[in-house]
Amino acid sequence: MKRDFLWGAALSNVQAEGAYLEDGKGLNVYDTLVVTPEKGIVPMFCDTAVAADHYHHYKEDIDLMAEMGFKAYRFSVVWSRIHPLGDDEKANEKGLDFYESMVDYLLEKGIEPVVSLVHFDMPDYLLREYNGFLNKKVIDFYAKHVEVVVNRLKGKVKYWLTYNEINLAPYQSDLVAGAYRPEDMSMTEMFAQLSINTAIAHARAVEVIKRIDSNAWVGGMIGHAPFYPLTCKSEDIIAADFKNKMHNYLPFDIMTSGELPDYFLNFIKQRHIHIDYKEREQKVVLESSQKLDYLAFSYYRSGVQSSFDHIEDFIDLEDAILFDHRNLKNPNYTANEWGWQIDAEGLRYSLIDLYHRYHKPLFIVENGIGIDEKLDNGKVYDDERIEYYQKHITSLKCAVEHDGVDLMGYLAWSPIDFLSSHKEMRKRYGFVYVNRGFEDLLDLARYKKKSFYWYKKVIATNGENL
Ligand code: BG6
Repeated sequence: MKRDFLWGAALSNVQAEGAYLEDGKGLNVYDTLVVTPEKGIVPMFCDTAVAADHYHHYKEDIDLMAEMGFKAYRFSVVWSRIHPLGDDEKANEKGLDFYESMVDYLLEKGIEPVVSLVHFDMPDYLLREYNGFLNKKVIDFYAKHVEVVVNRLKGKVKYWLTYNEINLAPYQSDLVAGAYRPEDMSMTEMFAQLSINTAIAHARAVEVIKRIDSNAWVGGMIGHAPFYPLTCKSEDIIAADFKNKMHNYLPFDIMTSGELPDYFLNFIKQRHIHIDYKEREQKVVLESSQKLDYLAFSYYRSGVQSSFDHIEDFIDLEDAILFDHRNLKNPNYTANEWGWQIDAEGLRYSLIDLYHRYHKPLFIVENGIGIDEKLDNGKVYDDERIEYYQKHITSLKCAVEHDGVDLMGYLAWSPIDFLSSHKEMRKRYGFVYVNRGFEDLLDLARYKKKSFYWYKKVIATNGENL
């Protein structure tokens, strides 16, 4: 791997920080997220008041990352810690101080900060009062927020990510875009308008960051899960192709070309959907495409798509594919306890596919496995995690060394344990165990897992010693 390859890990601050009402922070959509069985999610949620208490332990946590030899570390600036309501006139200085101290400490330890903007952290008030990114005013609030954050951290932070997993905004709209579907809007209309609005938000962020710091490197980010056809029947191949375009490629297609792709224009035309997309917004999106430096993505698993047997109408069929909840399984792979199938070669495939489609440097900014773990006399023997990483890093090395992909770095998910996106503490991802239970906070002490020592060796040998 190249000498300046960015080895490290990533976390999401709303899921780790806690201190949810401390030092002027406001509630955000993750704090107020209600996890229900109706959403297809087992309600195992903890509250976010303490989470992994990273707010008070951040130096200790960064020391552990430095001990592992991290070259880079991705974290998110919690929007509601800087702008507690979202439409505030003035920013919360204590929030800005906190992230600046974090960046200073990282730089002192020789770790490159990679900063995400919008990671499940929109102020809850913006959801309740404005309906989040479905309302264009929220894009203005967001651009102002980005301006404040970048002004404070410019010259210290080089790598920025405008929007975590932007492609998931239409699917998990409350958490990812702070928006609920209005009663008079169909799911496909919401899909179309949120895809546009989040693309504009991304573009505005690119413009702001580059205007303030022309040396900054700005990237867009998606949650990538390549969909494979269930069989080699052409119907299934067409279904998987459609799903990949709408689920994975759409935001990157817009970000890199600055235009709406034909398949999306056809999609809205077929359905007579009117989207609100003004000329000046189109101009910002187009201009931002010239300024984008890299493309980032998370990768945990691949997916499977098939067509449906009894749907006659093409439009209904496509809609069924777009919002397919069948969660089809790939017979070739095993899964973790949460049903996430482990497909390491899928990472190589994703890298080849995305690189040759966009010709931009790629950055893996999340990859890992959630495991229910217990502390055993102060130790955690997480061989399953080590094996997962061994296979995925082997796969990415193949993409770089054999397939010629330009890869900037690899950030594992995650340095320490914290709450999952569905507020579960049981689903642990860290190289470091955080001693708390579901309800019982225990002492929140940090313990190095077996994978901690393993990853340290991987980084020290630049990926040679797996
Ligand atoms: C990504 C998110 O979707 O996947 C993270 O960016 C999240 O915030 C991660 O934690 C793993 O998903 P989960 O649901 O297991 O936490």
